[in-house]
Amino acid sequence: MPIQLNPIDIAEWRRHREFSEAYPEGARPKRLVVSPYDPIQDVIRPDWQYMFKLSDEKYPEQYWAELIAYQIGLLLNIDVPPAHAAFDSMTGECGSLSEWFYTPDEEVFFAAGYFFYREIKNFDKDRGTQHNLLTAQKLSIDFIGDNQIFDFWSMLMFDAVIGNTDRHQDNWGYLITSSPNTKSVARRKGEQYGLRLKFAPWFDNGTSLGYQILERKFSQWDAFRLDNFIRKGTHHIRWAPDNLVQVGHLESMDFISKHNPKVRALILRKLKQFDTAHFINFMEQLVDLPMPPHARLTKARANFVIRLTLRRIELITEKLNAHH
Ligand SMILES: Nc1ncnc2c1ncn2[C@@H]1O[C@H](COP(=O)(O)OP(=O)(O)OP(=O)(O)O)[C@@H](O)[C@H]1O
Ligand SMILES: [Mg+2]
Repeated sequence: MPIQLNPIDIAEWRRHREFSEAYPEGARPKRLVVSPYDPIQDVIRPDWQYMFKLSDEKYPEQYWAELIAYQIGLLLNIDVPPAHAAFDSMTGECGSLSEWFYTPDEEVFFAAGYFFYREIKNFDKDRGTQHNLLTAQKLSIDFIGDNQIFDFWSMLMFDAVIGNTDRHQDNWGYLITSSPNTKSVARRKGEQYGLRLKFAPWFDNGTSLGYQILERKFSQWDAFRLDNFIRKGTHHIRWAPDNLVQVGHLESMDFISKHNPKVRALILRKLKQFDTAHFINFMEQLVDLPMPPHARLTKARANFVIRLTLRRIELITEKLNAHH
């Protein structure tokens, strides 16, 4: 599994023709950059579009969450766009660099919000207060089929593991790919190309991993407080149009384990394969990454993220085993 050995300096990278200054979507400052034809780092895809995303001003270390989440995704076998620690030596900015997850000319991405707004009258776009599981499931069955449930719930497990509270309706979606039909299908349907929908990789994972907890407070976090924090955590998504209560991280795992043994089994398998030693080793490498001094990952934060994540996995596993 490739891990970056050095921070990536994007100062010399080409700028995107349209969004080189600022990308118009989302809350955090970000811009599009294009990797070199022959990148120094082997984790970088050559001549490829990337999103360089800065942290929320209040939390300069937040960008680490994005790339730690990517590694957790790898360990759980969840499809997350590769993300790396990067900086711009011309401006001094530090952030995460997220690999574009589709080929702009060949595939189209639709955020789930696009369909929610059509499905639900007066949808509250700002806060997404009607973003809910039942509608998400209905849309995804329509677009992808019954098997969507495995991927969707794997994502909910991943979000519970990283403690993501911000998977709103525009932070996930569908990729539409067109591929040539076989000659016989083309003749029968009169169409040269067929459309296929799948979930886009689960992007925007940085509102997670306790990013909002200040380092000077870590010493106040005993086991009791940590468990309380985890138990209170919720997904952004609500249960149903007539039950607009946010689904708890642990509660979601309790629910699926009661209602779907096959999904439960898949999720448990993924959690079992999580390699704790590898995770800890990776976190230690991140601490040693020579990012600009004000933006390095401190040992204290790395340890806190490790503690939080391992405890989350324990509590989730407990929930999944409770009914058996
Ligand atoms: N790796 C990627 N590949 C393709 N599109 C991306 C990628 N990363 C981000 N985007 C697009 O850019 C938008 C904004 O990015 P992102 O959601 O990461 O930023 P944000 O500011 O954290 O958003 P939010 O307001 O949800 O906090 C996304 O909604 C998505 O459409
Ligand atoms: Mg977003």
